[in-house]
Amino acid sequence: MRHARASTPPRDGHTLDPVVDPMHFEANADAYAGARPPYPAELWQRLRTLGLLRPGSRALDLGAGTGQATGPLLDAGLRVTAIEPGARLAALLRAAHPTADVRICRAEDMQFAPSSFDLVVAATSIHWMDLEILLSKLCTILTPHGRFAVWRNVFGDSDAEVTPFRVRIAEIVDDRRAPPRPGPPAEDLDATIEALTASGLFQVTDASTYRWTLELDAAAIGRLFRTFSDWSPGEVERAVAAVNELGGTVTEHYSSWMVVLAPVEQRAAP
Ligand SMILES: C[S@@+](CC[C@H](N)C(=O)[O-])C[C@H]1O[C@@H](n2cnc3c(N)ncnc32)[C@H](O)[C@@H]1O
Repeated sequence: MRHARASTPPRDGHTLDPVVDPMHFEANADAYAGARPPYPAELWQRLRTLGLLRPGSRALDLGAGTGQATGPLLDAGLRVTAIEPGARLAALLRAAHPTADVRICRAEDMQFAPSSFDLVVAATSIHWMDLEILLSKLCTILTPHGRFAVWRNVFGDSDAEVTPFRVRIAEIVDDRRAPPRPGPPAEDLDATIEALTASGLFQVTDASTYRWTLELDAAAIGRLFRTFSDWSPGEVERAVAAVNELGGTVTEHYSSWMVVLAPVEQRAAP
């Protein structure tokens, strides 16, 4: 499955735009860092327990944005190279994390020597990348015992109670014809694992899910929802209005999943 080239299903007899714009985050660069919540502490603890946050080891952060994963990796003592195609995002990333080696390019276009990294991470970014190109590159640039950790925030936990705000969000989503995001649905960890292992180049060594809640006021909902690549300004305004009508603050139930993969040893053909 080539994530970033997902086909566009026709809806209501119409063909939609191919996919949402991967440069949406770049267009909202100034707001991105302050709008996005950090990843849960339990996720970082899991990486630590798995022995993947060893001080001094070399990490590559794919689609780093403004550094939501880069920062904690550096804080844990890793040496971090960050790949980010958006020039403004990359400038913010460099300013916030001057010790990271930031490269402005797509993950598919990166060039590194064999065995350059002990850990590669993709934090809420894997769905933007062409896996056919990416995974074969990772097989080379990871050390033989290296790991590829892929995680994603799911903004709206379908297993949690349905809050009045989520009812209003469902109404907005029902009314709209947003272009599809690339790759499997955000919450579908199984489909993501299938996509990441279909080539036979990587196998899963660990998978975990974390559930968390956030109290957000109308301004915070506006900031966060503006960073969602498939939400229009008008839809964000409706979400903000809903928060105000519901008392000015809402409790959001979110989740994050993580899958850790190892390269499958390549054997010479008999
Ligand atoms: C939802 S943001 C995630 C940013 C950050 N990793 C985080 O956890 O907040 C997705 C990021 O992927 C980047 N991106 C999009 N297409 C990419 C590609 N082909 N290669 C690398 N990064 C890409 C975007 O510019 C954006 O910064």
